[in-house]
Amino acid sequence: MPHFNKHNTQINHTMNRPLLYKSLFSLILSLPLSAVFAYEYDPYNGEEINELCAGCHGEYGQGGKEGEYPRLAGQPIEFTAKQLHLFRQRKRPNLAMVEYIDERQMPDEDILDVSRYLAEIKLKTKLPPADENAPGFDAYARLLESKKLMQIPRAEGDIEKGRKLYNKECDSCHGKEGWGDHKKGVPMIAGQYTNYLWRQVKKLRNKIRIHDEDAPEEELLDDFSDEEIRDIFAYLSIVDD
Ligand code: HEC
Ligand code: HEC
Repeated sequence: MPHFNKHNTQINHTMNRPLLYKSLFSLILSLPLSAVFAYEYDPYNGEEINELCAGCHGEYGQGGKEGEYPRLAGQPIEFTAKQLHLFRQRKRPNLAMVEYIDERQMPDEDILDVSRYLAEIKLKTKLPPADENAPGFDAYARLLESKKLMQIPRAEGDIEKGRKLYNKECDSCHGKEGWGDHKKGVPMIAGQYTNYLWRQVKKLRNKIRIHDEDAPEEELLDDFSDEEIRDIFAYLSIVDD
């Protein structure tokens, strides 16, 4: 009976499907995330996760407490995602974040979503002038706008010396005026709290963090005196003025 035979094979075919899906699924799981075509950016998920981060890093990723919590807004996706992986693997110590970031609470997709969500937040460095007495002045809108602002207070040091040193020694990786390199995933160090940068200098010098993956044994900041770094940070503190 040809008809029955045909029907029979069809049934067998459908019955094998779940098995096929299962093996495809485990194949996908074994690939590095970047190779998984199925990942699609979900901005709503990014926004939702950011609500957890906002308690410390601010609603717009602007950071807080004068650099106890760094600015995250505008950082390259790869940089933020890499730091979250390092925190999750306990390779970069971060006591404050430990309870928010384990494999179960922060799967790879969530890391990518929140990293992109934060990368796309553009913080202004200046508020446009406004007249509080003008008709139509909206105090609440103004308050919201002021929260989306990043202004690094002027740090001590010789700005001109710092500018020259920065352009010679840091610009090739950290980008023009310290605004980072999105393609290479190098963080912005302009628009970042000076206190925070100093804390990281200590961690980099103590090899708690690795500065340049291509030369993990040599810490490049060891070649600079505290005074030189102070001058570089003084320069970086004025590029947003
Ligand atoms: C309980 C407070 C707290 C919460 C909540 C928190 N963080 Fe953090 N985060 C910190 C602190 C403190 C540091 C700085 C650690 C250091 O000094 O090295 C930090 C550092 C970071 C850094 C490194 C930034 C850099 O420039 O080096 C990233 C990225 C980051 N947090 C992302 C997140 C994300 C994304 C979330 C939400 C899922 C989050 N954090 C939630 C406290 C917090
Ligand atoms: C070879 C490229 C390269 C050069 C040159 C370089 N950096 Fe970096 N820097 C990086 C990378 C990459 C990171 C991020 C490291 C990581 O993934 O944790 C970084 C991170 C930092 C951080 C921590 C920022 C943060 O938000 O956590 C500071 C501070 C810093 N660099 C300062 C400097 C200064 C100052 C100079 C110049 C004297 C400099 N770097 C030169 C590549 C470079």
